[in-house]
Amino acid sequence: MNKKIIENAKKTLIRNRRSKYTLPTNTKLYPAQWNWDSAFIALGYSNFNLNYSFKEIETLLSGQWRDGMVPHILFHKKDINYTPNYKAWNCGKKVSSSGITQPPILASILRLIIERKKFSKKKVITYTSIILKIKKYLEWFIRNRDPKQTGLISILHPWESGYDNSPLWDKPMNNIKIENNLKYKRKDNKIVKSDQRPLKIDYDRYVTIKNDLKKMNYNPKKLYYNSQFNVVDVGFNSLFLKACKDLIFLLGLINKKSPLLKKYININEKNLIRLFNPKKRTFKNKDLKNQTITEIPSITNFFMLFADLDNDKINAELIKSLKRYCKKEKYLFPSINSDHKSFEEKRYWRGPVWVNCNWIVYQGLKNKDKKFAEIIRKKTINLIEKKKFREYYSSKTGLGMGAKNFSWSAALYLDFKLNRS
Ligand code: GLC
Repeated sequence: MNKKIIENAKKTLIRNRRSKYTLPTNTKLYPAQWNWDSAFIALGYSNFNLNYSFKEIETLLSGQWRDGMVPHILFHKKDINYTPNYKAWNCGKKVSSSGITQPPILASILRLIIERKKFSKKKVITYTSIILKIKKYLEWFIRNRDPKQTGLISILHPWESGYDNSPLWDKPMNNIKIENNLKYKRKDNKIVKSDQRPLKIDYDRYVTIKNDLKKMNYNPKKLYYNSQFNVVDVGFNSLFLKACKDLIFLLGLINKKSPLLKKYININEKNLIRLFNPKKRTFKNKDLKNQTITEIPSITNFFMLFADLDNDKINAELIKSLKRYCKKEKYLFPSINSDHKSFEEKRYWRGPVWVNCNWIVYQGLKNKDKKFAEIIRKKTINLIEKKKFREYYSSKTGLGMGAKNFSWSAALYLDFKLNRS
């Protein structure tokens, strides 16, 4: 039974694979290469075809911009039906792309693959160019997303977080002035039920912000100060911090250094810890554009466990809070605490369970609370075995929703199933 599901997971990835990269799903919903999807997919492949893993990573990095940014979408093919398409973005030189990025989880995934496979130093050196491209990518964040050197990284579009319509963005998004005569045609809500997708007002705001960034020619020096959306997010900074730590490790293996990243790790960690209030057990996101704070109980706040903070006390507090967060749930983890007023059982990032979030939290727990980590691993496996490789699931009933044959759910199922590290 299980063996068959393992084979199905592999088949799902192979079917979604094009010649050198893999689509997030084989339905028409996401017909291009996405940044963090590809990193999770590469990890999935590492369980049965290492060549595919590295091909996936190389193709993603082939879209890297000259300044170091790795875009959130690469449009390798132009004749696809997607909004906003490559023309609407109008950027990317070698490869047409979007003009924004996504969480740089690739660094952490590369380290995991290299460590698990026990690559010799000599073998790691053959991946030098990949490691140096990721270095340039992470350094790009420090220069362009924290130009005032506050110690925290900003995102300039909700799509950069990867959790597009999360309630985390409700307050900052309420202040977006929607462009007059905005024109675009959504396709996503024709493919997936509209009550499982973002609202029209969300899309109006996404496209408005995107158009603003385009008007500034995606010049990173202008964007930080002028984007209508500029938010310091706990989850994003946690993934970034872990990426920096993992990249420093990889640089060590190839006898290279990054003083910039090394220094930033210390200030980023200190500032990240300040975003957690252990007394109230809340997390603060900073809306830099509107100079306000938001506190939303989102699973992405617990990515702080993944960041491996050098602080046992805070880690213990985080685990206590996480246990509380999911106390009532049949299926773990809801993306938003179901007690919160913004929770919606079916709507995309406003409540459903996402396999990549579970995986990130599991990775953070495995060296801090083995027993709890094992519960998460088993529960995630059971949910997927029951409901197949869906994009997301209801935390109340387990109902599978969104896209079918979703690549990262298949990839991370393999990873949960075949590894304990
Ligand atoms: C959606 C998700 C994002 C993902 C993309 C492709 O935009 O919110 O996280 O990368 O789809 O799967």
